Amino acid sequence: MITEATSFPMDISHYTFPKVQPHIDSWLRIYGKNILYWQGPQAELIVTEPKLLKEIMSVREISMGKPDVPLISNKIFGGGLAFSQGDKWAKQRKLATHTFNGEQLKNTLPATIEGVEMMLKRWKDAGTKEKEVYEEFLIVTSEVISRIMFGSSYEEGKKIFQKQEALIPLAAKKLYKTRIPGLGMIFKDKYDLETEKLVDGIRDHIMPMIRERETKTTSGDEDNSKTDYLGLLLKARDDIDASYKFSIQDIIDECRSFYIVGHGTVSILLTWVTLMLAIHTEWQEKAREEVQQVFGNQNPSSEGIARLKKMDMIINETLRLYPPGISTTRKVHKETRLGNLVLPPNLNIQIPALALHQEREIWGEDAHLFKPERFSKGIANIVKNNPGAFLPFGYGPRICVGANFAIIEAKIALAMILQRYRFSLSPNYVHAPVQRITLRPNFGVQIMFQAL
Ligand code: HEM
Repeated sequence: MITEATSFPMDISHYTFPKVQPHIDSWLRIYGKNILYWQGPQAELIVTEPKLLKEIMSVREISMGKPDVPLISNKIFGGGLAFSQGDKWAKQRKLATHTFNGEQLKNTLPATIEGVEMMLKRWKDAGTKEKEVYEEFLIVTSEVISRIMFGSSYEEGKKIFQKQEALIPLAAKKLYKTRIPGLGMIFKDKYDLETEKLVDGIRDHIMPMIRERETKTTSGDEDNSKTDYLGLLLKARDDIDASYKFSIQDIIDECRSFYIVGHGTVSILLTWVTLMLAIHTEWQEKAREEVQQVFGNQNPSSEGIARLKKMDMIINETLRLYPPGISTTRKVHKETRLGNLVLPPNLNIQIPALALHQEREIWGEDAHLFKPERFSKGIANIVKNNPGAFLPFGYGPRICVGANFAIIEAKIALAMILQRYRFSLSPNYVHAPVQRITLRPNFGVQIMFQAL
């Protein structure tokens, strides 16, 4: 059904759920709001009923539990924080929270601004009016995450990114392929072999970065080892009292997984927001006016970023209609009774954010329209009557650790673009959102830029 639905583009409509997840859309229509299905031997409950959703979200053990990672995803994301459990997760989470929140977050501003300035300079030098923005945003977000996490530049990280990007279509091909458990370890198909080659290549690029940092730290030649994420990971490895001790493999996995989650998602968010503003130009004008009021022609400051309220509304509305992560998943570890349901251990749970974000019963008859004004009173106002209605960053203890950083990065990039350009949709754009791990534009997003 997915192959068929994505074999042709769609009109420019924001009702993307039936196109991107036609199987779930049709099951919800046939079987109701909660569906149990099997992917091979693995049972999964898809939940969209608000009452059950609320109950599930209130059970802490379920909120903590992540499904076992399919072999192919494990290869792609490594065993990083997004998939780890128990003491290892707690330790990784604490370090990442420290890096991407509070005061530390302010330290990320200069690197973000610098990355965006480089992109804008490239645009100016190239002089062409039409740009494919998804590719552009992939570069800028890669640049930023390389600097913030590892103190390295995009050029250094480029080879890793290219290999990581090459892994995504391989994973997408295998996402819905079911195999007899264990067979994948013995019989490898061409996708497995290609994946292994790329994974080994990534490891070969990351190891020298770690070794170089270790040498600098030991020789006292490292000034940001205390603040960036790689520095924190290496420091934590030497903590002998810790309940979980990081191995070098853990650090490689964590680097890889942050390379992916740290830029793949933000670049997509920026792409969809740019598309929205190119189509809904009245909101582009409102956003530009706000940016000019707050910053004039100056670069964004952390105090000013918090005052960009219209931009918040635009970003939230885009995350609602085009959430980069289209589902949140959980695993039941011990038998749990919820209402008249008994959830057995090992059951996976999927909360399909895209479906919930586009549900008329929750958002009203205009659910499929781009209307940022619905967020004018903030997110809390929306979710208070509908828990689970808005989940672009997931929920509970495993909510996205980089959410604040992502929003700030997106606001900086958008503000700096709006200060310099007015933009509109190119006639070459073809609307084709697809799930390739994240929700992406299948043929990119072509935008016409006009310097102000
Ligand atoms: C627009 C940008 C982003 C979106 C839409 C997004 C979305 C998500 C979602 C849906 C989850 C799953 C949460 C859950 O299961 O409840 C998640 C987890 C996570 N995200 Fe993000 N993310 C974004 C940006 C980032 C960035 C920039 C970083 C890092 C710098 C990051 C790091 C992570 C990590 C490490 C986890 C796993 C957290 C855990 O399991 O404890 N994300 N993200």
